[in-house]
Amino acid sequence: MTFPPGPALARDQRAAAHDGGPPLHAGASRHSLTMTASPDFFIGHIPVFGRAILAPMDGFSDWPFRSLCRELGSALSYTEFVNAREVPANGKYVRDKLRFTEDERPIVFQLYGDDPDEIVRAALQVQALQPDAIDINMGCPAKSIANRGAGVGLMRTPLKVARIFRRLSRMLQIPVTGKIRLGWEDCRTYRLIARVVEENGGQALAVHARTREQGYSGRADWDAIAEIRQLLSIPLIGNGDVQTPEDIARMRNYTGCDAVMIGRAAIGNPWIFAGLRREAVSLEQLESLVREHLRRNLAFYGPELGLVLFRKHAVQYIRPFMPDRAVRTRLLRAETPQAFWQQFERLLAARKGR
Ligand SMILES: Cc1cc2nc3c(=O)[nH]c(=O)nc-3n(C[C@H](O)[C@H](O)[C@H](O)COP(=O)(O)O)c2cc1C
Repeated sequence: MTFPPGPALARDQRAAAHDGGPPLHAGASRHSLTMTASPDFFIGHIPVFGRAILAPMDGFSDWPFRSLCRELGSALSYTEFVNAREVPANGKYVRDKLRFTEDERPIVFQLYGDDPDEIVRAALQVQALQPDAIDINMGCPAKSIANRGAGVGLMRTPLKVARIFRRLSRMLQIPVTGKIRLGWEDCRTYRLIARVVEENGGQALAVHARTREQGYSGRADWDAIAEIRQLLSIPLIGNGDVQTPEDIARMRNYTGCDAVMIGRAAIGNPWIFAGLRREAVSLEQLESLVREHLRRNLAFYGPELGLVLFRKHAVQYIRPFMPDRAVRTRLLRAETPQAFWQQFERLLAARKGR
């Protein structure tokens, strides 16, 4: 997929982070580092530079946001999950979710499903689009998915997980990886499933350290990540309760995981991948990043849908300002990119005038 390359926004952002703040995250300067530095770890034969990774998030980790995070230092690009059942039809839903640009590599396509045949067929089909790896979602807690045995539903069926990974690891030419939770409250199978994934050819495992019932709240159990680390020799990616650049280091030290995956804390705050705390982000950095994110959204989805889908990001970008309701509403009701931008600039000007 080709898109007009943006201005050197991400480079500016990284430089700004570097000038004033902590050293660049390894992944942030991968273009120069790949020549000289050695990879931080490998997924199969795929070298990975960097240890912080944007989590796959349906509705958020699309190309515009993913590619920005990648440029700021996220070490891998995971697509949003894609229903294996929808792949054969190859409709717009699937095509949009799996579009990527070369500079995102390594790019991991994530699939979900409950039927090994469907998953294998879908994986073979999407492999033709040349991702670097295919990931199987075993963490989604949504009723419509988990109750049919897909997502975290798979964590109740270890034999099926074994079949899926054995077949994929034999049939695909690229690595297959998995993303799990801790299981269900009455069936915490994370140790078993982690072993099953590795023993059947999985090349990396990401663990969101919460149970299905916890959803997205309650404390993530980093001890469980540390426990899995002891069981596996493939790369382990820890996930849950990471809010700041310091948390990334803390999780790595505590659990011994190879990399840390960040979901919600990156929304409205992609600078976390450049090692920058949100409070340290200048208004100029915010302005240029929002401008570039909106530009990519409009280029990717077209002007109407691009703006509508940008609103949920905009809310998060302005959250630290706590603007009053009227300002927020005007911004989110803007019907054209120009009107949005006018409101956004007004908000920034008010902020700068403080
Ligand atoms: C809006 C949203 C969508 C998500 N979609 C996916 C998905 O498509 N695939 C997946 O494996 N996990 C998905 N997740 C889970 C995240 O990848 C991650 O495991 C979870 O948010 C915990 O990490 P965090 O505490 O850093 O947010 C989603 C989470 C959120 C909040």
